Amino acid sequence: MVSGNPAFEVSVGQLRARPWQAQVLSEPVPVSELPTPALLIDEALLDANVKRMAAFLAGKGKGARPHAKTHKCPLIAARQLDAGAVGICVAKVSEALVLANAGIDRILVTSPILSPDKLAMVAALAGPDRQIDLVVDCERGLHALADAADPDRPVGVLVDVDVAMGRTGCRDQEVIVRLAEQAARTPGLEFRGLQHYAGQVMHVTGHDARRSKSLRLWEQIEVIVAALAGRGFTPAVVTGGGTGTYDIDCEVGCITDLQVGSYALMDQEYLDIGGRDGGVFDDFDVSLRVAATAISQPLDNVITFDAGYKAFASDSVKPRPLTVPGAGEYRFAGDEHGVLLLGSAAQEPLLGTVQQFVVPHCDPTVNLYDAYWLCRDGLAFERWPVAARGCSW
Ligand SMILES: Cc1ncc(COP(=O)(O)O)c(C=O)c1O
Repeated sequence: MVSGNPAFEVSVGQLRARPWQAQVLSEPVPVSELPTPALLIDEALLDANVKRMAAFLAGKGKGARPHAKTHKCPLIAARQLDAGAVGICVAKVSEALVLANAGIDRILVTSPILSPDKLAMVAALAGPDRQIDLVVDCERGLHALADAADPDRPVGVLVDVDVAMGRTGCRDQEVIVRLAEQAARTPGLEFRGLQHYAGQVMHVTGHDARRSKSLRLWEQIEVIVAALAGRGFTPAVVTGGGTGTYDIDCEVGCITDLQVGSYALMDQEYLDIGGRDGGVFDDFDVSLRVAATAISQPLDNVITFDAGYKAFASDSVKPRPLTVPGAGEYRFAGDEHGVLLLGSAAQEPLLGTVQQFVVPHCDPTVNLYDAYWLCRDGLAFERWPVAARGCSW
């Protein structure tokens, strides 16, 4: 694809050249000998999460369309497709490019796009061997996509519907119907359905509260789906939801598939939302960790690790030490450092050891690393590039 925009061309070329394949270590390496801070995935827990979600949703007659904004890794996306996912979501066209480059062939871009260069990229990614879908939430966006589209390689259009989040999406039923009509009759476009994502509901504490909030929003989507059907535009796809509502939204009749992201890796923010039976939300295992080294002990009750703002996302809760029983809070102490209040772990000889942490928020934490270390029984055996790291456009 030639856009004529040198900044765009350089960026695309750089992404196409990125390695995404697994690098197998010549022999397994104990986690304690990895260069830290290091991003770890416990392979057995990752696979268990992927299979558990796929089986649960299949049992409810729904598909999984996992969101790759969480892991940014084609190798994980491929495992999700192998487990039966109907497709993979991305938030950005640059993420779509990286996944497509690695052979992922069913991609939905879940954020509207208005830039001509990006739309040309979306159109260029679509083809006979690759289904590319894009959400659209206004007529200007639809027209811009129509201008970029190639009648021989149609792009699927999902109308992004907002009920109460106020981020992206259209609220006006007449406009939603009009967008569907226009997509259906425009060469190079194919009307595929609707997206509704209520991010504000995902981390509502308490299952009952999440349930009532989410189902109330979906009731309004059901009305829109009926209106579209009444005008002859029955959506083939109604997609949305996330990890926090996966076992709630699956009860909604019109939903075809769920855009679950964090479930594969998990983080402290999600553990804290509470599960069906209260307590922690532990439907999925914490497969993602950060390993860090205790490098200093400035005070008896405090130990400093080599992991600060550049090792953990700092937009939400604190990292939680997983392998230091009795430890207290982990506090950020700058870009490269964090301090663990030792609490009853004070007697542990920790200096020089490598410890593992549950990350605060998985998506932006992953985005800080070049690669995951895939681990089995405490040994790292493969390096998986976070190939779409930094793909923010
Ligand atoms: C549009 C969209 N769909 C799905 C998800 C996945 O959500 P979660 O990680 O909560 O499963 C997100 C996350 O932000 C999102 O923005």
